[in-house]
Amino acid sequence: MKEIMIKCEGVHKEFRLRGNIIRALINVNLEIEAGEFIMIQGPTGCGKTTLLNVMSGLDLPDEGSVILDGEDIARANEDRLSNIRRQKIGFVFQDFNLVDNLTAIENVEALLWPTVLRTKEIEDRAIAALRAVDVLERKDHYPSDLSGGERQRVGMARAIIHQPRVLFADEPTGNLDPASGTNVLELLKKLNRDLGTTMIVVTHDSSLVKYGDRVVKMDRGRIVR
Ligand SMILES: Nc1ncnc2c1ncn2[C@@H]1O[C@H](COP(=O)(O)OP(=O)(O)O)[C@@H](O)[C@H]1O
Ligand SMILES: [Mg+2]
Repeated sequence: MKEIMIKCEGVHKEFRLRGNIIRALINVNLEIEAGEFIMIQGPTGCGKTTLLNVMSGLDLPDEGSVILDGEDIARANEDRLSNIRRQKIGFVFQDFNLVDNLTAIENVEALLWPTVLRTKEIEDRAIAALRAVDVLERKDHYPSDLSGGERQRVGMARAIIHQPRVLFADEPTGNLDPASGTNVLELLKKLNRDLGTTMIVVTHDSSLVKYGDRVVKMDRGRIVR
């Protein structure tokens, strides 16, 4: 039997800006199976980031439900939400979001803080994560001494150190040259295959959709395919 990891039903989301109402998500219905690699593609402003934020509990829908791993996150309280995010969800960002004064390995370990794990266990996990995305040899570098592609690989190591069931990536290649961008997507693909992590990757770039098992196309707040 297929296992549903995320189910959005009748999701609406509006923003109000200086008297204008922006309908960012209009009746979004979407089912994502465990282990799928989904690419969400569409032009700038079509609602991709809003959808990702709603699916990951960073933002609440005005209407509709978002079930993540069997739980309605649109109705979970703040404590429960932060637990779900800590345990089940990983994030990769367009601008990497690394902390400048931490080394690569410290940036990865920091995702687990505060933790009951022993120092050695944290280090072993960080090393395994850095190795999985092929950037272990840069573990003692600070972000300023890494290339863009290497920074994003550190960002991916940080996103998997807690072994999340779902990984969300919002324009992960947006700040990279084409070769580094391809490398990042190939690594996400490898993590999806090796770890079974459900991948949800947002891009405006239609040349990248080939990496997905399935493409969800958006336009003006709606899923159009
Ligand atoms: N916090 C906000 N306040 C007002 N409008 C917003 C906010 N966030 C997003 N929007 C608007 O909602 C629409 C969808 O935005 P977004 O989800 O960021 O699109 P995308 O990620 O596809 O570029 C856009 O018109 C954007 O301007
Ligand atoms: Mg966006």
